[in-house]
Amino acid sequence: MGHPRVDAIAQEAREAVAAARSSADLEQARVRFLGRQGVLTQLLRSLGTLAPEERRLVGAAANEAKRMLEALLEERLAEALESERRAQRTRARLDLTLPGRRPARGVLHPLTRVHDEIVAIFAGLGFSVVDGPEVETDYYNFEALNIPRDHPARDMQDTLYLTESTLLRTHTSPVQIRTMLAQKPPVRIIVPGRVFRRDVADASHSPMFHQVEGLAVDRNVTMADLKGTLGLFAREMFGPESRIRFRPSFFPFTEPSAEVDVLCFVCHGQGCRLCKQGGWLEILGSGMVHPQVLKNVGYDPEEVTGWAFGMGIERIAMLKYGIDDLRLFFDNDLRFLRQFA
Ligand code: FA5
Ligand code: MG
Repeated sequence: MGHPRVDAIAQEAREAVAAARSSADLEQARVRFLGRQGVLTQLLRSLGTLAPEERRLVGAAANEAKRMLEALLEERLAEALESERRAQRTRARLDLTLPGRRPARGVLHPLTRVHDEIVAIFAGLGFSVVDGPEVETDYYNFEALNIPRDHPARDMQDTLYLTESTLLRTHTSPVQIRTMLAQKPPVRIIVPGRVFRRDVADASHSPMFHQVEGLAVDRNVTMADLKGTLGLFAREMFGPESRIRFRPSFFPFTEPSAEVDVLCFVCHGQGCRLCKQGGWLEILGSGMVHPQVLKNVGYDPEEVTGWAFGMGIERIAMLKYGIDDLRLFFDNDLRFLRQFA
């Protein structure tokens, strides 16, 4: 063009612009050549130090190079900004044709499923569901159930006391008392809920577990009704081929008393770790409501009789799903829980 020194600078500037990949790169190039300390700016500023002839030549060439560079930058900057805006719009655009992200669907806990199933079976038999407090008084949990303070039966259930007279209920049986005190016969209720004992955790025991109490009181209610009801329950819950047995037992609040066992699903009666070598798993305690308990709530044992049971939800869930360790219910291991989908 006009002057070798200026031409070299102009060439360098064109290369810088050509190498620019973004509007930010272009701005860097502009500052490098046309900024306050830019190469061309400095050259124009130093014209005064040159000889008059040289000054004219360099001046004309430098001004020409500056105009060229300004025009080039303006054009490239417009292109760069446009393509950057386009890229930005593409990133921001929603693709409505993409398949939706599936919401993670939870599953009901096996204890909840078994709870619901027990409730459904007894609701079908005309029982209503009643609730009771987990913090109980000594009176409802023991005294009214015919378990006086020095009775050895208190040792059957190691109790977690809160104060001298309040405790965490050791069974759902206190709700029998609360219900009968609040209403006249006939009574047909079930009571699902948490209970607490100072039991050491093992494959079939937990210090917190769930029971469902059942209570039926009316004229002419017999032990045969109890056996019939529990037999029907077992067939509904475990299938028609399931085996249960009634075993004589003792509870201060029932007379006679029986515990019900289901054939162990792990060893089929041979004896194993789960059933503690017994071949059967105990699922509930039951019996005819003791006449003294009926008197305690103001019922006349000459007029009405009743039966009651208390079943362990964990034990039933273990039998139903073939789970050989009760602690799995409370570990919250998702690999375990997802199997109940
Ligand atoms: C009772 O709790 C009586 N209240 C049951 C009852 C009610 C009898 C009404 C008569 C009339 P028991 O302590 O056996 O009884 O417990 C009842 C059931 O709870 C047991 O059969 C078992 O299935 C379950 N169970 C007991 N202890 C535990 C435990 N630590 N962990 C898990 N389940 C348990
Ligand atoms: Mg028992």
